[in-house]
Amino acid sequence: SGDSSIAARLLAWYDAHHRDLPWRVTPVAFARGTRPDPYRVWLSEVMLQQTTVEAVKAYFRTFVEKWPTVEALAAAPAEDVMKAWAGLGYYSRARNLKACADLVAQRGGRFPETEAGLKELPGIGAYTAAAIAAIAFDRPAAVVDGNVERVISRLHSIETPLSEAKPEIRALVEKLVPRTRPGDFAQAMMDLGATICTPRRPRCMLCPLREDCSAILSGDPERFPVRLPK
Ligand code: ADE
Repeated sequence: SGDSSIAARLLAWYDAHHRDLPWRVTPVAFARGTRPDPYRVWLSEVMLQQTTVEAVKAYFRTFVEKWPTVEALAAAPAEDVMKAWAGLGYYSRARNLKACADLVAQRGGRFPETEAGLKELPGIGAYTAAAIAAIAFDRPAAVVDGNVERVISRLHSIETPLSEAKPEIRALVEKLVPRTRPGDFAQAMMDLGATICTPRRPRCMLCPLREDCSAILSGDPERFPVRLPK
Protein backbone atom coordinates (compact mmCIF):
# COMPACT_ATOMS: atom_id res chain seq x y z
CA SER A 1 0.00 0.00 0.00
CA GLY A 2 1.22 3.46 -0.94
CA ASP A 3 2.01 6.65 0.89
CA SER A 4 -1.44 8.19 0.43
CA SER A 5 -3.15 5.18 1.98
CA ILE A 6 -0.77 5.39 4.95
CA ALA A 7 -1.80 9.02 5.50
CA ALA A 8 -5.47 8.11 5.01
CA ARG A 9 -5.30 5.30 7.58
CA LEU A 10 -3.46 7.53 10.04
CA LEU A 11 -6.03 10.34 9.63
CA ALA A 12 -8.96 7.93 10.12
CA TRP A 13 -7.30 6.69 13.31
CA TYR A 14 -6.73 10.29 14.44
CA ASP A 15 -10.41 11.14 13.90
CA ALA A 16 -11.37 8.33 16.26
CA HIS A 17 -8.52 8.38 18.79
CA HIS A 18 -6.88 11.81 18.91
CA ARG A 19 -6.02 13.20 22.32
CA ASP A 20 -8.30 16.00 23.46
CA LEU A 21 -5.74 18.71 24.14
CA PRO A 22 -6.71 22.27 25.00
CA TRP A 23 -4.86 23.81 22.03
CA ARG A 24 -6.76 21.59 19.59
CA VAL A 25 -10.07 23.30 20.27
CA THR A 26 -10.49 26.89 19.21
CA PRO A 27 -13.42 28.73 20.80
CA VAL A 28 -15.69 30.05 18.03
CA ALA A 29 -14.85 33.62 19.02
CA PHE A 30 -11.19 33.04 18.02
CA ALA A 31 -11.61 30.71 15.04
CA ARG A 32 -11.09 31.99 11.53
CA GLY A 33 -13.63 29.84 9.78
CA THR A 34 -12.90 26.31 10.91
CA ARG A 35 -9.15 26.90 11.17
CA PRO A 36 -7.40 26.94 14.52
CA ASP A 37 -6.27 30.28 15.89
CA PRO A 38 -2.56 30.74 14.94
CA TYR A 39 -1.98 32.47 18.28
CA ARG A 40 -3.05 29.35 20.17
CA VAL A 41 -1.06 27.08 17.88
CA TRP A 42 2.08 29.21 18.29
CA LEU A 43 1.67 29.49 22.08
CA SER A 44 1.19 25.73 22.52
CA GLU A 45 4.09 24.83 20.22
CA VAL A 46 6.49 27.14 22.08
CA MET A 47 5.39 25.68 25.42
CA LEU A 48 5.74 22.13 24.05
CA GLN A 49 9.31 22.70 22.82
CA GLN A 50 10.93 21.42 26.00
CA THR A 51 7.98 20.55 28.23
CA THR A 52 5.65 17.54 28.34
CA VAL A 53 2.06 17.67 27.13
CA GLU A 54 0.78 16.99 30.66
CA ALA A 55 2.74 19.89 32.17
CA VAL A 56 1.80 22.30 29.37
CA LYS A 57 -2.00 21.85 29.61
CA ALA A 58 -2.57 24.00 32.72
CA TYR A 59 -0.12 26.73 31.62
CA PHE A 60 -1.72 26.93 28.20
CA ARG A 61 -5.18 27.37 29.75
CA THR A 62 -3.90 30.07 32.12
CA PHE A 63 -2.19 32.00 29.31
CA VAL A 64 -5.15 32.05 26.91
CA GLU A 65 -7.47 33.02 29.75
CA LYS A 66 -5.23 35.92 30.82
CA TRP A 67 -4.20 36.89 27.28
CA PRO A 68 -6.78 35.69 24.71
CA THR A 69 -5.02 37.25 21.71
CA VAL A 70 -1.48 37.98 20.59
CA GLU A 71 -2.27 41.70 20.97
CA ALA A 72 -3.25 41.13 24.60
CA LEU A 73 0.02 39.29 25.22
CA ALA A 74 1.97 42.08 23.52
CA ALA A 75 0.24 44.65 25.75
CA ALA A 76 1.09 42.74 28.95
CA PRO A 77 4.07 43.82 31.08
CA ALA A 78 7.01 41.46 30.48
CA GLU A 79 7.17 40.85 34.21
CA ASP A 80 3.61 39.44 34.26
CA VAL A 81 4.43 37.09 31.39
CA MET A 82 7.59 35.87 33.15
CA LYS A 83 5.55 35.26 36.32
CA ALA A 84 2.91 33.27 34.46
CA TRP A 85 5.70 31.22 32.81
CA ALA A 86 7.31 30.39 36.19
CA GLY A 87 7.59 26.62 36.57
CA LEU A 88 7.73 25.83 32.83
CA GLY A 89 11.51 26.31 32.72
CA TYR A 90 13.81 27.39 29.91
CA TYR A 91 12.99 31.05 30.56
CA SER A 92 14.55 32.29 27.32
CA ARG A 93 11.41 30.82 25.76
CA ALA A 94 9.27 33.28 27.74
CA ARG A 95 11.48 36.24 26.76
CA ASN A 96 11.28 35.19 23.09
CA LEU A 97 7.53 34.63 23.44
CA LYS A 98 7.07 38.23 24.52
CA ALA A 99 9.39 39.57 21.79
CA CYS A 100 7.53 37.52 19.18
CA ALA A 101 4.12 38.70 20.43
CA ASP A 102 5.33 42.31 20.17
CA LEU A 103 6.48 41.82 16.55
CA VAL A 104 3.30 40.02 15.49
CA ALA A 105 1.13 42.66 17.17
CA GLN A 106 3.03 45.29 15.13
CA ARG A 107 2.02 43.35 11.99
CA GLY A 108 -1.65 43.70 12.89
CA GLY A 109 -1.72 40.46 14.88
CA ARG A 110 -1.11 38.31 11.81
CA PHE A 111 1.51 35.58 11.96
CA PRO A 112 3.54 34.82 8.81
CA GLU A 113 1.98 31.80 7.07
CA THR A 114 5.12 30.17 5.65
CA GLU A 115 7.85 28.18 7.36
CA ALA A 116 10.47 30.68 6.15
CA GLY A 117 8.50 33.66 7.42
CA LEU A 118 7.79 32.02 10.78
CA LYS A 119 11.46 31.07 11.29
CA GLU A 120 12.44 34.74 11.27
CA LEU A 121 10.52 35.33 14.49
CA PRO A 122 12.21 35.04 17.91
CA GLY A 123 11.83 31.63 19.53
CA ILE A 124 10.60 29.92 16.36
CA GLY A 125 13.09 27.36 15.03
CA ALA A 126 12.73 24.88 12.17
CA TYR A 127 10.52 22.46 14.10
CA THR A 128 8.15 25.06 15.51
CA ALA A 129 7.89 26.86 12.14
CA ALA A 130 6.91 23.59 10.44
CA ALA A 131 4.36 22.76 13.15
CA ILE A 132 2.69 26.20 12.98
CA ALA A 133 2.70 26.26 9.15
CA ALA A 134 1.03 22.84 9.04
CA ILE A 135 -1.41 23.14 11.96
CA ALA A 136 -2.45 26.78 11.67
CA PHE A 137 -2.05 27.39 7.92
CA ASP A 138 -2.54 24.02 6.23
CA ARG A 139 0.92 24.05 4.66
CA PRO A 140 2.29 20.59 3.76
CA ALA A 141 5.29 21.01 6.08
CA ALA A 142 7.22 18.00 7.41
CA VAL A 143 6.96 18.13 11.20
CA VAL A 144 9.64 15.85 12.65
CA ASP A 145 10.07 15.41 16.41
CA GLY A 146 11.33 12.45 18.43
CA ASN A 147 7.97 10.69 18.25
CA VAL A 148 7.88 11.01 14.48
CA GLU A 149 11.47 9.77 14.17
CA ARG A 150 10.51 6.64 16.09
CA VAL A 151 7.36 5.97 14.04
CA ILE A 152 9.25 6.37 10.74
CA SER A 153 12.26 4.34 11.94
CA ARG A 154 9.90 1.47 12.71
CA LEU A 155 7.69 1.80 9.64
CA HIS A 156 10.81 1.36 7.46
CA SER A 157 12.92 -0.66 9.95
CA ILE A 158 15.78 1.78 9.42
CA GLU A 159 19.04 0.13 10.46
CA THR A 160 21.10 3.31 10.16
CA PRO A 161 21.67 4.76 13.65
CA LEU A 162 19.19 7.55 14.35
CA SER A 163 21.89 10.21 14.63
CA GLU A 164 22.82 9.55 10.97
CA ALA A 165 19.34 8.72 9.67
CA LYS A 166 17.70 12.10 10.20
CA PRO A 167 17.90 13.35 6.58
CA GLU A 168 16.48 10.03 5.37
CA ILE A 169 13.66 10.20 7.95
CA ARG A 170 12.81 13.77 6.95
CA ALA A 171 12.62 12.77 3.27
CA LEU A 172 10.30 9.88 4.15
CA VAL A 173 8.01 12.20 6.16
CA GLU A 174 7.94 14.67 3.25
CA LYS A 175 6.71 11.86 1.01
CA LEU A 176 3.99 10.91 3.50
CA VAL A 177 2.53 14.38 4.19
CA PRO A 178 -0.89 14.52 2.51
CA ARG A 179 -2.08 17.55 0.54
CA THR A 180 -5.26 17.63 2.60
CA ARG A 181 -5.13 17.99 6.39
CA PRO A 182 -1.33 18.31 6.79
CA GLY A 183 -1.83 19.76 10.28
CA ASP A 184 -3.95 16.84 11.44
CA PHE A 185 -1.41 14.51 9.83
CA ALA A 186 1.40 16.10 11.88
CA GLN A 187 -0.58 15.83 15.10
CA ALA A 188 -1.66 12.29 14.26
CA MET A 189 2.00 11.25 13.93
CA MET A 190 2.71 12.82 17.33
CA ASP A 191 -0.27 11.07 18.94
CA LEU A 192 0.65 7.74 17.38
CA GLY A 193 4.17 8.05 18.78
CA ALA A 194 2.92 9.13 22.20
CA THR A 195 0.14 6.57 22.68
CA ILE A 196 0.74 3.53 20.38
CA CYS A 197 4.25 3.56 18.91
CA THR A 198 5.82 4.17 22.32
CA PRO A 199 9.55 3.72 23.02
CA ARG A 200 8.90 0.64 25.17
CA ARG A 201 6.23 -2.02 24.59
CA PRO A 202 4.54 -0.43 21.58
CA ARG A 203 0.85 -1.36 21.24
CA CYS A 204 1.21 -2.73 17.70
CA MET A 205 -2.11 -4.59 17.82
CA LEU A 206 -3.89 -1.21 18.04
CA CYS A 207 -1.78 0.53 15.40
CA PRO A 208 -3.50 1.77 12.23
CA LEU A 209 -0.19 1.27 10.36
CA ARG A 210 0.56 -2.30 11.49
CA GLU A 211 0.09 -3.66 7.96
CA ASP A 212 2.54 -1.08 6.59
CA CYS A 213 5.12 -1.55 9.34
CA SER A 214 8.37 -3.24 8.54
CA ALA A 215 9.52 -3.34 12.19
CA ILE A 216 6.60 -5.56 13.19
CA LEU A 217 7.73 -8.14 10.62
CA SER A 218 11.18 -8.12 12.22
CA GLY A 219 9.53 -9.35 15.41
CA ASP A 220 11.18 -6.71 17.60
CA PRO A 221 9.81 -3.22 16.88
CA GLU A 222 11.38 -1.92 20.12
CA ARG A 223 14.79 -2.31 18.46
CA PHE A 224 14.03 0.81 16.37
CA PRO A 225 15.20 3.53 16.20
CA VAL A 226 18.68 2.01 16.26
CA ARG A 227 21.08 3.97 18.46
CA LEU A 228 24.84 4.09 18.30
CA PRO A 229 26.46 2.46 21.35
CA LYS A 230 27.54 5.13 23.87
N1 ADE B 1 4.12 18.25 20.81
C1 ADE B 1 4.45 19.31 20.07
N2 ADE B 1 3.37 19.82 19.44
C2 ADE B 1 2.32 19.03 19.78
C3 ADE B 1 0.95 19.03 19.45
N3 ADE B 1 0.44 19.95 18.64
N4 ADE B 1 0.17 18.08 19.98
C4 ADE B 1 0.72 17.17 20.80
N5 ADE B 1 1.98 17.10 21.15
C5 ADE B 1 2.80 18.03 20.65
